[in-house]
Amino acid sequence: MRVAVTRGIPEAGLELLRREGDVVVWPEPCPPSREQLIEFAAGADGLLTLLTERIDGELLDALPSVRAVSNMAVGYDNIDVEAATARGVVVCITPDVLTETTADFAFALILAVARKVKPAADSVLRGEWRTWEPMGFLGQDVHGATLGVVGMGRIGQAVARRARGFNMKILYSDQQRRPEIEEDLGARFASLDQLLRESDIVTLHVPLTRETRKLIGAEQLRSMKRSAILINTARGGVVDTEALADALESGTIWAAGLDVTDPEPLPADHRLLRLPNVLVTPHIASASEATRAQMSRLAAENLIAALRGEEPPRSLNWEAVRGLAQS
Ligand code: GLV
Ligand code: GLV
Repeated sequence: MRVAVTRGIPEAGLELLRREGDVVVWPEPCPPSREQLIEFAAGADGLLTLLTERIDGELLDALPSVRAVSNMAVGYDNIDVEAATARGVVVCITPDVLTETTADFAFALILAVARKVKPAADSVLRGEWRTWEPMGFLGQDVHGATLGVVGMGRIGQAVARRARGFNMKILYSDQQRRPEIEEDLGARFASLDQLLRESDIVTLHVPLTRETRKLIGAEQLRSMKRSAILINTARGGVVDTEALADALESGTIWAAGLDVTDPEPLPADHRLLRLPNVLVTPHIASASEATRAQMSRLAAENLIAALRGEEPPRSLNWEAVRGLAQS
């Protein structure tokens, strides 16, 4: 089998792929443009992609030999799954292996933003640490605060579990009520409106879909507490970026921690980056050595199975594609 990998990824997955056939890896630090990708992947049976590649009908039509696309990510808003299914292309993702690592990072942002870790550390680097200051860098307490989890899926639950250790009250909103989690984590179901009104910290864990695009806009931000913190480790598009910048500038909410932005990357001169109450990181929530190796391995296992005509460990449309082939 011939496989094109759209960027350098941890060896774990590449090793598995090389045992199966020819592997080409995009050598640049930045993703290929569409034209570059079409040229690079011409003749490949499978693509191992990242969230930086837009995979749609047009691309798949330009690469007719491709029978499977394996995304090294849990999110798949970069892939038009319907278009892939219609063309008999199997689509796979890497859930579960990154859940705990991503939840760790959501908590890192919660703590860092609430306790002003970055502005405080920056002041030390600037030589401004003169003495112990009784009123310097006063933050918000995380312990005992009310955490609003928007989207109680795998990662939302993992964040809520951590929050229990901080004695936080947990509210959650979701498309469905999850009684077993309410019992397990002492979480209370709420509408998004109620969650936004009552939470001290709001953390987003929904996928980016038509329904969740700009889920958090000016009106939602206005309904939050003035002392509230917004954390986004999901997808930038879930938040209206300009509305958020306005809210942070005007003190409508207190601060934000963003591992994802819209656009992504955020231009270096974007006004969000000049605000003292925003912490932005470059989409690294799943970036631990162990987890990225596991993502690489699972993405390879998915691709190998799909190209052998076997059921991949984590596919989005295997049944549908197989059904197409049989009909
Ligand atoms: C990263 O954002 C992912 O979806 O895995
Ligand atoms: C702070 O370091 C304290 O001792 O209160």
